[in-house]
Amino acid sequence: MKVLLLLSLLVAACAATPLDDYVNAPDPTYEYRDLGDPWDGDGYTSYFINLTSQLWLSPGEVSRAIWWHYLVINIPDEIEFGDTGFLYITGGSNTNGRPDITSEDCLLTTLMAVGTNTKIQLRRVDLKML
Ligand SMILES: *[C@@H]1O[C@H](CO)[C@@H](O)[C@H](O)[C@H]1NC(C)=O
Repeated sequence: MKVLLLLSLLVAACAATPLDDYVNAPDPTYEYRDLGDPWDGDGYTSYFINLTSQLWLSPGEVSRAIWWHYLVINIPDEIEFGDTGFLYITGGSNTNGRPDITSEDCLLTTLMAVGTNTKIQLRRVDLKML
């Protein structure tokens, strides 16, 4: 009986949840594109990327079914910890154009990139209602 109970618990623990299924489902809208015009800063370069993260519901159900975000990747001239990165997610809106490289968020992440010699990514997440 104990073995059966243990086996049942193990199966339940290993079963995929609806969230697992959602996260692991292939999404043909996922892509990222370099928007060009990288910023050549003092000791680093910032690249601007259009990251399309997912299709949420359908265009008939929500006003913006395709979620895309500005992604800024700061790469220091000298990388000491190439396998290490840092992701800073902030708010904002993708309707205001690409992030201002002199904004507080960008300055914070470039300082961290140069100060730690790791790649830093700043991702703007648009939190407006759909
Ligand atoms: C980013 O990609 C999305 C989805 O393809 C597109 O709708 C949007 O116009 C793009 N934005 C920019 C700034 O390239």
